Amino acid sequence: MARNLIDIVDLTVEEIDELIAVAEDIIENPVKYQDACAHKQLATLFFEPSTRTRLSFESAMLGLGGSVLGFSAASSSSTAKGETVGDTVRTVGCYADIIAMRHPKEGAPIAAAQVCDTPIINAGDGGHCHPTQTLTDLLTIHREKGRLDNFTVGFCGDLKFGRTVHSLVNALSRYEGINFVFISPVELKLPRYVKEEALKKKGIPYTQTTDLESVMSDLDILYMTRVQRERFFNEEDYMRLKDSYILNPEKLVNAKPDLSILHPLPRVNEITVDVDKDPRAAYWRQVANGKYIRMALILKLLGIEV
Ligand code: NCD
Repeated sequence: MARNLIDIVDLTVEEIDELIAVAEDIIENPVKYQDACAHKQLATLFFEPSTRTRLSFESAMLGLGGSVLGFSAASSSSTAKGETVGDTVRTVGCYADIIAMRHPKEGAPIAAAQVCDTPIINAGDGGHCHPTQTLTDLLTIHREKGRLDNFTVGFCGDLKFGRTVHSLVNALSRYEGINFVFISPVELKLPRYVKEEALKKKGIPYTQTTDLESVMSDLDILYMTRVQRERFFNEEDYMRLKDSYILNPEKLVNAKPDLSILHPLPRVNEITVDVDKDPRAAYWRQVANGKYIRMALILKLLGIEV
């Protein structure tokens, strides 16, 4: 059986910690890894828009000495002719050693994994999950803070449709002493299934609020998110909710001096550009980390040890 990464819980905590350690070693010693995937091919199948995820996957494989193929829009693949995801992935499995795919339908990567022996990485499935962004987020937290436990973490924005939030909540719920604070409009609260699985079943406490400023001074990490326009059923709701939270320097006045501000990006307007120069803004460092953790993941799924 191929080893896939469909959901972040497919990896044990030990495996995640090991990936982080490898990524940190790659950052320190990139030359050691530069030919590790020579003659291996990564396919990126993106049925939905992407900048960072797709290009960091490609940059990761190129940095390992491998090569890349794929498409960046469903419209340029045979999907436009009516081909099923299963048939497309089965085809690409004949050409590539490993596949990263993003699809608007929740569960599409599981369906793909059933028809293909090539390792499949879920690079985001609809409003469901996004495990490689979570690995990026965890590497970022580890590099910013030196640990992954005993924090108060605030998640702010679109917690309903934000797949990066769902996966990161799942991942962090497995580390000790995480205190979760969910900040969102009532309409965009964290889905019940995520709360049940990640928090309630394990008796992990959490709080929910609509008011970011009232909790700001408690937070060690603030994970901002974009309101996911493409997942809304009507434009009116999006227009009403899109400006719910706009983080600016004034709102950070009472924040901890060692707060880390993360955002999976892209941002629309939920963090003003003048926050970028605040040393607590970690989201551009987070972008860079995405490449290294994906290098570590590709090595792991291909069974290559350096
Ligand atoms: C996120 C995604 O695609 O879910 N972006 C990313 O992969 N870095 C977040 C988003 O689109 O808002």
